[in-house]
Amino acid sequence: MIPLTQAIAGTFLLWILHQWYAFETMKRKLSAIPTIGSSNFILGYFHSLRFAFNGHELVAEGYKKYPGGLFKLRTPATTSGWIIVGSGTEIVEDIRRGSSDHLSFFAAMSDSHGSRWVGGIRDGSNDSPTEPYHFDVVRLSLTRSFPSRFDDICDEISASVGDMFGHSSAWNGVPLVRSLVPVIARTTNRLFIGLPLCRDREFLSGTQRFTSGRVATANVLQLVPGALKPLVGKLISPVATALRELEPILGPIIRERLHQDAVQGAERADRPKDLISWLLDFSPPEKRNVEDIIFRIISLNFVSVHTTSITIANALFDLAAHPKYLAPLRAEAEGAVEQYGWTKEAMNKMRGLDSFLKESSRMRGTGSTSMTRKVLRDFTLSNGITLPAGSVVGIASRGLHHDSEKYEDPLKFDGFRFLRLREKEEGGELKYQMVSLHHDYLLFGHGRSACPGRFFAVNEAKAVMAHILLNYDIKFPEGVTSHPAGKWFSASYTPHPSAQLLVRKRV
Ligand code: HEM
Repeated sequence: MIPLTQAIAGTFLLWILHQWYAFETMKRKLSAIPTIGSSNFILGYFHSLRFAFNGHELVAEGYKKYPGGLFKLRTPATTSGWIIVGSGTEIVEDIRRGSSDHLSFFAAMSDSHGSRWVGGIRDGSNDSPTEPYHFDVVRLSLTRSFPSRFDDICDEISASVGDMFGHSSAWNGVPLVRSLVPVIARTTNRLFIGLPLCRDREFLSGTQRFTSGRVATANVLQLVPGALKPLVGKLISPVATALRELEPILGPIIRERLHQDAVQGAERADRPKDLISWLLDFSPPEKRNVEDIIFRIISLNFVSVHTTSITIANALFDLAAHPKYLAPLRAEAEGAVEQYGWTKEAMNKMRGLDSFLKESSRMRGTGSTSMTRKVLRDFTLSNGITLPAGSVVGIASRGLHHDSEKYEDPLKFDGFRFLRLREKEEGGELKYQMVSLHHDYLLFGHGRSACPGRFFAVNEAKAVMAHILLNYDIKFPEGVTSHPAGKWFSASYTPHPSAQLLVRKRV
């Protein structure tokens, strides 16, 4: 009999050898691509931890050294231990054109969020091009339906901003991101599942716990060596807890909807027009069950609430830092609402606000990379370099957004930059809208997997901003004069969670 300690040591050694072999094989395949940092197996592991805490600086270094080209970095966020980062129009366009058989956003996210270890994959496998059907629900049903629900959306914005910012005409400090998350969670869920659930504390805290749990789990899994990921993922996964907590709240509604659909059919006039109905319209028979529908509702909360809250928080901090924009944006919002009411048409007329939000996201956004794709089959770029199957590629979006070749005076905040371009350039009216996709602006990615929720997100963000502009004065607390520094983890950015904004109700 081999003693237990020797068996453990032997297994560990075998695992190290396997890791080393996989690492060297991928390194050889990526040899045409220069490395930022170390490509030594041991040193590279420590370097990959540096990526977890300082990824944006490494990406910025690579962007500067290899403009318009590719570089690679060690990262704990991918299964191969490498991420390839590209820049320049040619590479962005190559990735945009890549077919779903070759490049997959879903597989890249499943890897970096550790979905295979936390029980998050409901469609296909980790390496399958099959994307979850709820992406199509957002692309089609949600995007078509939200304009007719704009009354509800604005009603929830008014109620939730009032609850978070208060109604006092004296200055009052609010931690901005923490105050906006419940506003966006309520507003988004007013569209997703309506009243009264969108205000239900248990429902909101359950979805929020799931979201923060998913982010924390993904971050922890990045730091855990590969062999331990399945065990650690299972131990700390927030999925089972969220399903258990939300079953008593959502379960009866979903069961009743399934029952009514079975008895009366899905075409009945009184069928609610909400996310549950839209999901049931798209779900294959084997996935028409309570647990699966709850999982998709919380997954859509996960992708939508924080991204939109961060976008609005960035813009409000920029507004406090550049108060000269307050008067023109207010006048624009007042005029649009007077003429069109709180409708999507009014939001379309707020072109200055569209430009302001877009510029704010260009300056900060949600991270330093975008268009992340897992390579499912060898993929050759127009520069002749082949990205091997199993590798992960992304674009250095922040570098691109701050590049003087792409934007004039790129580090200067210019709130009406995109408005001017929209008015000046032929074809600019469409090209420079915040929702428009372009190889020089990657807040929402680009191509087939570009964010399908962007039409709703931009209109929701504009409605929140317009509501705040018309009903509140805002400024920084004493002593703060510029946009507060945010926080980075890996390549993701979030405004500082405790940074404050002073608000008071306008009288
Ligand atoms: C300002 C807020 C938002 C930002 C900045 C944002 C950003 C992004 C980005 C960068 C991607 C990946 C695109 C790519 O790699 O090409 C993405 C994908 C996605 N987003 Fe958003 N998003 C936002 C809001 C939303 C909302 C509100 C929803 C849902 C209602 C949503 C649903 C999705 C989905 C389902 C995907 C996966 C798309 C696919 O792979 O086909 N997002 N988003």
